[in-house]
Amino acid sequence: MDKKLIVLCGDAVEEMAKLPDKSVALITTDPPYNLNKNYGIYQDNLNFTEYMDFSRKWLTQAKRVLKDDGSIYLFMGVRYISYVYAVLEQELGMTFNSWITWFYTQGIGKTKGFSPRHDDILFFTKHPKNYTFNLDEIRVPQKFYRSINNMRGANPGNVWQFSHVHYCNENRRSHPTQKPEGLFERIILASSNEGDTVLDPFVGSGTTLRVCQQLNRNCIGIDINSSYVEMSKRRLSEPFRGFDSIDERMKRVPDDLNDPLVRELYVQEHINKFLKNDSEAIDDFVKSVQDKYASKQLNLFTAT
Ligand SMILES: C[S@@+](CC[C@H](N)C(=O)[O-])C[C@H]1O[C@@H](n2cnc3c(N)ncnc32)[C@H](O)[C@@H]1O
Repeated sequence: MDKKLIVLCGDAVEEMAKLPDKSVALITTDPPYNLNKNYGIYQDNLNFTEYMDFSRKWLTQAKRVLKDDGSIYLFMGVRYISYVYAVLEQELGMTFNSWITWFYTQGIGKTKGFSPRHDDILFFTKHPKNYTFNLDEIRVPQKFYRSINNMRGANPGNVWQFSHVHYCNENRRSHPTQKPEGLFERIILASSNEGDTVLDPFVGSGTTLRVCQQLNRNCIGIDINSSYVEMSKRRLSEPFRGFDSIDERMKRVPDDLNDPLVRELYVQEHINKFLKNDSEAIDDFVKSVQDKYASKQLNLFTAT
């Protein structure tokens, strides 16, 4: 598919102001959380009023450029999330849909207090009822297969576990807050269709652009730092070897595949349905099936 992937260098508010009204199906973005991160030319440490003014400005542009049936997914840290929630709902009149928690098992350790292990994502729609949500694109395998027809899978829920992109991961870039591609994969599959335009006004290392490239969406990415813009462009030109992160449930092996024929059929269907965008996970999945059912047979044999 012919898709447009545009990377702009500039301030999010100024660049968004140049985009036409109602031109974007989905905005998914991870802005600075105002936690004093060093983004090269931008130090993330505004005072409360300045940060809220900045948030209000770019969120106002976000609503303007969204199509009437469009959605926004906004990553945010705990300190400001309730305030930006109020801007979206009370000031901009958008409709709350979901508060998603991204749970990660590793992160910084606190010695006086509880170590943080989640970021959160607010999902709002422009229209209360008319919006895209492709549940069948984002289902996760169930614990029991039950019958040959039961391949639907479950709703992934609003707590999503993905590990950070660790420094040993070959997809890791030199960006302080690079997010796992798996998070964006789920958002983009759920709330846009092939050929739609997705906008990320704080694109950083280019995660949203990369995922859109692989899922046949058009994408506009903006970042204020020209070295991150170059980083995104390089990332788009590299060969693709699968997304850098996956919800481990996608590799889940049901407990009721005891019949070898059913098992064989199931494995193929599972790969086609749940692992179609994550070819690197297929070997792990097949091995888990072999391990699980080899040990089950052994137990059966020992018991008789
Ligand atoms: C949290 S990071 C985004 C990380 C990205 N999701 C990824 O996976 O790499 C936020 C980005 O916003 C950029 N930024 C900060 N202020 C900006 C502004 N006013 N306009 C556009 N980009 C800005 C920073 O340079 C940084 O790369």
